[in-house]
Formats: sequence, C-alpha cells, structure tokens
Amino acid sequence: MRGLRYQSFLLYIQRICPRRINPDQGMLLIAVMIGLTLSPAMGADADHGAELAKRWCASCHVVSSDQKQASADVPPFAALAQRSDFSAEKLAFFLLEPHPKMPNYPLSRNEAGDIAAYIGSLRK
Ligand code: HEC
Repeated sequence: MRGLRYQSFLLYIQRICPRRINPDQGMLLIAVMIGLTLSPAMGADADHGAELAKRWCASCHVVSSDQKQASADVPPFAALAQRSDFSAEKLAFFLLEPHPKMPNYPLSRNEAGDIAAYIGSLRK
C-alpha cells in the first residue's frame, strides 16, 4: 500500500518536474518537503531573532550578554541555550504554543524560528 502511494507520488513529481527523478531522489525530495513543513527553525535568521528578542522578551529575560537587568526568576536566554536537552526546533515549537506564565506573543512561525536560532547561537 505504502509502496503504491510512493509510486504514484513519484509519477506525479515526474510529471511536474522536467528532469527525470529516480526513486532515491524522490525519497530525498519527500524528506526535504517534510523537513520544510515541520521545522520552523530551518533557514532561520538568528540576527533577526536577536532583534525580536530585544523588543519582546527583554522586559523579563536577559536576552544578551550586554543586558544588565531583567526580572528575577526568569531564565536568561544564555541559560536556556545551555540546557542539555536544548534544541532550536523544540524551542520554536514552544514559542508557538500558548505559555501560561508568559504573555502570548503573536509570533509567526518564521519569527519563532528566528528567536530559537538566536537562542541557539548563545549555546557555547
Ligand atoms: C512577562 C515576562 C516574560 C516575557 C515578556 C517573556 N517571558 Fe519567557 N518566561 C517568563 C517566565 C516567568 C518564565 C519561566 C516560566 C516557568 O518557570 O514556567 C519564562 C520561561 C521561558 C522559556 C523557558 C521555558 C522552559 O522550558 O523552562 C523560554 C524558552 C522563554 N521564556 C522564551 C521567551 C521568549 C522567546 C520571549 C519573547 C518572545 C519571552 N520568553 C518573553 C516570562 C516572560
């Protein structure tokens, strides 16, 4: 059944794509498409994330090493990045979910990915 679906997917791709695609390339294409759909952190822009973090998160979190003040009891971004289970993908998804102790930001998937990439860049 799955094989059949894949066959028809390949036929479909071969119809829309002028170049011939062999089954291995087809698999790669599927993997890339799934990656693009699932991972908001892909192709993320950490510099833009830094700007967003300074604008929206710095009132509570220490978002960069040159920031002196923020709320107590709120984890600095550098500390989040050091966690052993840190992953930019997970963080991006976390930012898209409503979070009880944090105000809800209307972050787009790209913005969430950028902020996650920025926090990831603080990891040493
Ligand atoms: C109004 C204050 C406030 C603002 C603004 C705020 N946060 Fe938070 N944030 C918190 C608090 C408080 C916690 C700790 C929550 C807890 O312990 O459950 C937290 C925790 C987190 C965590 C860690 C969650 C975990 O797994 O422990 C992340 C990631 C995070 N914030 C990201 C952000 C980002 C990104 C922004 C900006 C878009 C932001 N926060 C803006 C108050 C804030």
